[in-house]
Amino acid sequence: MAKKSKKTAKKSAKKAKAAAKKPARRTVVAKAVKSAKKAVAKAVAKVAGNGMPKPSNKPFGMDGKALQGVRILDFTHVQSGPTCTQLLAWFGADVIKVERPGIGDITRGQLRDVPNADSLYFTMLNHNKRSITIDSKHPQGKRVLDELIKTCDVLVENFAPGALDRMGLTWDHIHKTNPRMIVASVKGFGPGPYEDCKVYENVAQCTGGSASTTGFRDGPPLVTGAQIGDSGTGLHLALGIVTALFQRTRTGRGQKVLCAMQDGVLNLARVKLRDQQRLKHGPLTEYSQYGEGIPFGDATPRAGNDSGGGQPGRILMCKGAPDDPNAYIYFITQAPVWEAICDVIGEPTWKTDPEYATPKARLPKLNQIFARIEQWTMTKTKFEAMEILNQFDIPCGPILSMKELAADQSLRKTGTVVEVEHPTRGTYLSVGNPIKLSDSITEVKRSPLLGEHTDEILTDVLKLSAKDIAEIKGSGALSAPEKKDKAA
Ligand code: COA
Repeated sequence: MAKKSKKTAKKSAKKAKAAAKKPARRTVVAKAVKSAKKAVAKAVAKVAGNGMPKPSNKPFGMDGKALQGVRILDFTHVQSGPTCTQLLAWFGADVIKVERPGIGDITRGQLRDVPNADSLYFTMLNHNKRSITIDSKHPQGKRVLDELIKTCDVLVENFAPGALDRMGLTWDHIHKTNPRMIVASVKGFGPGPYEDCKVYENVAQCTGGSASTTGFRDGPPLVTGAQIGDSGTGLHLALGIVTALFQRTRTGRGQKVLCAMQDGVLNLARVKLRDQQRLKHGPLTEYSQYGEGIPFGDATPRAGNDSGGGQPGRILMCKGAPDDPNAYIYFITQAPVWEAICDVIGEPTWKTDPEYATPKARLPKLNQIFARIEQWTMTKTKFEAMEILNQFDIPCGPILSMKELAADQSLRKTGTVVEVEHPTRGTYLSVGNPIKLSDSITEVKRSPLLGEHTDEILTDVLKLSAKDIAEIKGSGALSAPEKKDKAA
């Protein structure tokens, strides 16, 4: 189409040129030139626009949200799944969280700090969602779910393997009910010997290669504080979902999206699989173990705080350590700034001394070099050191405590740390959307109370009448079974 328009445009432009040679026909010429220009512009717009609508002329941030119009049936619980659907909600998707009547997501009551209020565990993972309670094993509940499946674009779940099928929500059933629906799942493992296992964060860190490569060589494997198994897999799943939504614009059909937590962790630990293969060809020279003359085994070892890249780095004490557990800085001896490092720490001769001047010469002496740098960092607070080192582009970072991060004003300004109002727990602090889009600004809204939007969803989304709603409610499909009188 675009090629044709370009040809037509060229023809018109030729005609226009020829006509321009005859002064008597000025008006005709002007007209021809105008129409040629129009045809070219049209053709160019078609090619450049790639079938997209014209660029919006509303100000950035004022033309809706990135995922506006996408409706998610959110069957997630605990952390991995909720992280994923929270991100989608922040990007503007309508996320309908289906919860078990009377109980809801188990995290509502876990690690509770305020009596009778949803826990921070729940509130910090379920912003911007709506909550409906449905007993998915009740016949009427199943009917309501089928209706929701027809109107939603994506079903997201992270139940134990087989739980969704046991509810009758098999892929075949969902695909038949709504062929456009994407079914996205987090599981502990992909197909294989462990596929039926239940998995939590630390199990994933251990089975995905993170724990065996974290910690110090002479200590046991260590799990990290960052929830790379849960939140990390939630992030992977969110990308899988938006990618499947994009493919659906071409194919018109849904598909299954699976993220196994083991796979997600291994993906984040890929540099350690890199090192595993390097071991075949000699020692890992950037690991402190090399400088200490300790032989390598046949698997990637734990490397303490050694940098995972080609530039050696360590955590060093600053003024106040070790009494202050966070008075430390991460210091990287990046090769291009070696001379500046020597000047800052007061070892100018190391700039030219062949024992120190090249990265290769320094590798066996990293412990000694970092000990000397630490003598300097211990004379400064971590923030003073950061300021001085950054003047010379020396890569470094203070070890920030959660207390410091919570008080950080620049993180508040960017919305990475936000204060949220909640009707039963009051104001609390949360991590906002870490992914910033300039045309889809995130407002962080509080998490829903259990079943807060049940009526609203039945009315607005399923268009049910008051009579129908009363009938469903009467069936017990949306409420917790009455507690039996113990005396009876
Ligand atoms: N109505 C009725 N029943 C419901 C329901 C609803 N609205 N929502 C959940 N249930 C039921 C499920 O059908 C399931 O019942 P079944 O086992 O009889 O079929 C039951 O609740 C429990 O689900 P399950 O997922 O097994 O929860 P669990 O607490 O036993 O296990 C995990 C929790 C996290 C270990 C498990 O869900 C899991 O391995 N998930 C995948 C990996 C994952 O995401 N892990 C990280 C979590 S942060």
